[in-house]
Amino acid sequence: MSTRIDDPSPALRGSQPWLHQHGVEIQRFGTVRQFPLGLSRDARLYSCQRLNELLADTQILHALYKKHHWLMRGATFYQLHLLLDKQAGEQIALVDQIAERVQTLGGVAVGDPRHVAEIARIPRAPDGCEEVPAMLSRLLEAHDLILTDPHEAAARVAELGDDGRNDLMVSGVIRTGETHAWFLAEHLVETPLVRAADQSPAAD
Ligand SMILES: [Fe+2]
Repeated sequence: MSTRIDDPSPALRGSQPWLHQHGVEIQRFGTVRQFPLGLSRDARLYSCQRLNELLADTQILHALYKKHHWLMRGATFYQLHLLLDKQAGEQIALVDQIAERVQTLGGVAVGDPRHVAEIARIPRAPDGCEEVPAMLSRLLEAHDLILTDPHEAAARVAELGDDGRNDLMVSGVIRTGETHAWFLAEHLVETPLVRAADQSPAAD
């Protein structure tokens, strides 16, 4: 129910916003509008459905990056604190690109975090803090899950003709995700810091 000052003072006339407005939903989630894109409705529906799953998982991955950026600790705190924030920033940029691809196809992008949680497939992390290697493994597993989707969907999407989605997948989601996974995985290699394991005794 909107509230209006029916008789605003002359000083406000023409400037008073209509406040507390509520309305009906004008497009339901899971539907696509007809846009002249040279793509069938089935192709756009399929792409939007897969993109919304990916969008939900990418939003969860971004949230996990921030959580672990905040909760990081130990000898490598500073390095990992900065790395996880950098990768979080790159994931949130992908979130925007995926969401806008859904809109470009005439769909409705999932946005409310409570709706995101219903769609996302990445398992929920404990509310508390895990050990550092477990935090990194959790992020790697989330990447693995996300990277499976573009590979699975690629053939079907190519068949339906949505080249724009494939371009976003390859140049954005896959390349960024693979690089992020590489940077995380290298932190899980147990490697001596100063002396290699097989050193023969130093000659006098
Ligand atoms: Fe920060």
